[in-house]
Amino acid sequence: MPLSQNDFRVHRQNVMARMAPNSIAVIAAAPTAVRSRDTDYPYRQNSDFYYLSGFNEPDALLVLAPGRPEGEFLMLCRPKNKQMEIWEGRMAGLEGACDTYGADEAFAIDEAGDVLPKLLDGCSQIYYSIGLDTVLDQQVIQWLNSVKKNARAGASAPDVLSNLDQLLHEQRLIKSEQELTVLRESCDLAAKAHARAMQACRPGMMEFQLESELTYTFAQGGAPAVAYNSIVGGGENACILHYTDNNHALNSGDLVLIDAGCEKDMYASDITRTFPVSGTFSEPQALLYRLTLEAQLAAIKKIKPGNRWNEPHDESVSVLTKGLVSLGLLEGDLQTLIEEGAYKRFYMHRVGHWLGIDVHDVGAYKVNGEWRPLEVGMVMTVEPGLYIAPDDQTVEPRWRGIGIRIEDDVVVTQDGCEVMTAGVPKTIEDIEALMQSA
Ligand code: GLY
Ligand code: MN
Ligand code: MN
Repeated sequence: MPLSQNDFRVHRQNVMARMAPNSIAVIAAAPTAVRSRDTDYPYRQNSDFYYLSGFNEPDALLVLAPGRPEGEFLMLCRPKNKQMEIWEGRMAGLEGACDTYGADEAFAIDEAGDVLPKLLDGCSQIYYSIGLDTVLDQQVIQWLNSVKKNARAGASAPDVLSNLDQLLHEQRLIKSEQELTVLRESCDLAAKAHARAMQACRPGMMEFQLESELTYTFAQGGAPAVAYNSIVGGGENACILHYTDNNHALNSGDLVLIDAGCEKDMYASDITRTFPVSGTFSEPQALLYRLTLEAQLAAIKKIKPGNRWNEPHDESVSVLTKGLVSLGLLEGDLQTLIEEGAYKRFYMHRVGHWLGIDVHDVGAYKVNGEWRPLEVGMVMTVEPGLYIAPDDQTVEPRWRGIGIRIEDDVVVTQDGCEVMTAGVPKTIEDIEALMQSA
């Protein structure tokens, strides 16, 4: 279920409560993006805009003006246009902006050059995402100059420009119960999709054919979009961290790494599973897999209120480095190997990121220069990996070209965390049993 208008209203109220006195915030809708000539990419709203309104059209501005007597929530959007609706699809129009989306006042987007200077006149501070959208940057300067032109008539422009991101993104970082419900649905659906892919996988399939099992499941479950381009990498393709070509055949004896999640009602899931194309792990694959899983489980154990953001990562580094030494992939003193980052040859990314409306969601990782403590309601991924380059002549041939990542999505709870993607198997025994039952 998508968030309700009441949820968006609460989001707006919470932001407004934290804005400076006599200030205004402006958020621009995402523009459309051309794919080629006359065809666009599927439209995706700016996440901040969605979070504050649920409104899903381009060419719009959302304005929050706390304490403004005529109304605190304003929208500037495309007026209804019958002809355009026949060609391009439905539009909310100014009436819809008020009636459906709860705006106190709505104006045509073409009037922004008149409306915004009037709203800014007399305000002390304006918040917007500075530098995110060059069009908006230019517009804000024009609006401010336009107010300043009327200074002799008593107009006064805000003299503080503030980045909205910190204020808004700290709020987005802590998910409400309603948001967690949507995130759980997104995670459940992605878990189903990964389980289906495990069952459908056969040697000789193309990677994009296996990918279609996931996208099919997403759509059938109510998510027409992916949260990011799916990664389906067979064999050594799994060692390319952002592999999205997905155009090779899957070979018996290889592993396949799938990193895929859906966007369900605008909230992302992000799961990685790595499994044998033919249903059974070889010994070297199993050794590296067990080590990655041990690191992932240890990292998950470190997720609880009060622990700092870096603790799960550091734990994964410690488990992986120790394991790499016992497998003969690294040599030397454990502590020195960790301090010198020797593991980065095989584990070159961090253990996770925030998750929400964006797959790499917003919110600072450090506060006042220190890794931030985890709090109830923060949602994050846990995704250690091991990648042994196919041409690494310094390791035994049996390890070369093996890439493994195991990724789950968790929410911090009072006593630790809840794994929201637990619906898809991740032990060797459970994966093999599922694949062999198919
Ligand atoms: N799929 C993107 C990530 O795992 O961060
Ligand atoms: Mn991922
Ligand atoms: Mn991720």
